[in-house]
Amino acid sequence: THIRPTSIVVFGGTGDLAKRKLFPAFFNLYIDGRMPEQFQIIALGRQVFDQEAFRDYVHENMLAFSRNPNFLKEQWDEFRKHITFFNAHIDDDQSYQDLHQLISQNDDRWGERGNRLFYLSIAPSFIEQVSNGLKTFALADNVAGDRIIFEKPFGYDKSSAIRLNEMLAKTFHEEQIYRIDHYLGKETVQNILAFRFGNSIFEPLWNNRHIDSVQITVAEQVGVENRGGYYDHSGALRDMIQNHLLQILCMVGMEAPNEFESEQIRDKKADLLKSVRRIKREDINHYTVRAQYAAGEINGQPKKAYRDEPGVDPQSRTETFVAMKFYIDNERWLGVPFYMRTGKSLQQKHSAVVINFKDSTKTKFPANRSSIENNQLTINIQPEMDIRLSFMSKQPGLDMEMTPAEMVFDYFQCASNGPEAYETLLLDALDGDSTLFMRSDQVEEAWDIIESIQEEWEHGDLSPIYTYPAGSWGPEEAEELLKRQGHRWLSSF
Ligand code: BG6
Repeated sequence: THIRPTSIVVFGGTGDLAKRKLFPAFFNLYIDGRMPEQFQIIALGRQVFDQEAFRDYVHENMLAFSRNPNFLKEQWDEFRKHITFFNAHIDDDQSYQDLHQLISQNDDRWGERGNRLFYLSIAPSFIEQVSNGLKTFALADNVAGDRIIFEKPFGYDKSSAIRLNEMLAKTFHEEQIYRIDHYLGKETVQNILAFRFGNSIFEPLWNNRHIDSVQITVAEQVGVENRGGYYDHSGALRDMIQNHLLQILCMVGMEAPNEFESEQIRDKKADLLKSVRRIKREDINHYTVRAQYAAGEINGQPKKAYRDEPGVDPQSRTETFVAMKFYIDNERWLGVPFYMRTGKSLQQKHSAVVINFKDSTKTKFPANRSSIENNQLTINIQPEMDIRLSFMSKQPGLDMEMTPAEMVFDYFQCASNGPEAYETLLLDALDGDSTLFMRSDQVEEAWDIIESIQEEWEHGDLSPIYTYPAGSWGPEEAEELLKRQGHRWLSSF
């Protein structure tokens, strides 16, 4: 598609996200011929950088972090001309005026008022100020072509998210607001919808008559690294469950929209979140487990305890691991437990959805039913990218012995170096497609789902915080949570 000329403005242009994800994503889009024909990326930062020095810094990061570090020198030499560093102070009106002028120069050069894409990769406490600055200086006043991307965290709890949404609603039009959840840009997460709705053989089974339980795991091997200051005020429930895991839940559980069109898809997701049964505070222990990593070993290397990480309170009670159970009270899912878990400093990086089917056969075949395992569908999100369907098969030989077998679709075979999540999402935002971004109601519902848990964990005394050694699969109690219902964590690691 043809994208109009665009001025791209990155607030937090010298930050971690810009260096690891945003610049590499823009450059890869450029290499793929997907950037607008005319564009300028303006990176805002408080430090003072000479233009060429900044471009060299972006170049170094490209070599270090791009999925495609073997780019051609000529491509880079062209791309770097599109980057401008702009020394700005977000509390200074002059900066907004100067920014306005810089953007207007682009428009003059292009001979038309270009689109504008603002990326707010800044601490939550600055969002209001920057939004007001954009409004006051009429930087984003073209509703049809000016868009603002907001990074997470989007609020700290339900009431702060509502306040933020109200503030933004007064400042911009909802169609200009792009709330990013980068999990929605992942190939394998998008493929969940393709798999469900592009095939006729799975959807008839996708309900409580045939599905026994669903598991969603997002395990990370990294600890909090240098993000202790942020993370210690967040924790896994806010950092991962409220957004990434609930968004995966939506993809797995939502109803099919009539049309695959942005608002309808987002309606169906919001409906699903509304149907998630809210957990009562007194039941928290029955549904959730929280834990924090203690010292351990990962890949043969010693790993320190969470409380000893830089920026973390030595007495911290912030969880780095959560396991929990949800129910969805609608016709499709009534009675089906959805188990979720996520954690840091675990043995391996591994994210997957497992659909565990019921044994609903009426036959007595084979005579020895005890050898039969339930069918499972595993959707590996990362780092493996595949879909596996397990089934029972006859063991070759003279006897009727059954053995588990698997059908596998390996995504890597067709997408070994496919686009990264941020490439997909930035292209959508440049193109004005908000399907994969979160609407205000989804964000508020997601906070509402975890609200009682947040309250009990922060102010109550019902819920202990367990520990697990770094490099393990989490605390024993996470296993217990499933055992009570005759389940166990199923995953192909
Ligand atoms: C971020 C969280 O949103 O997602 C991080 O803030 C987490 O704590 C990251 O590490 C995981 O993303 P990915 O793409 O590496 O799975």
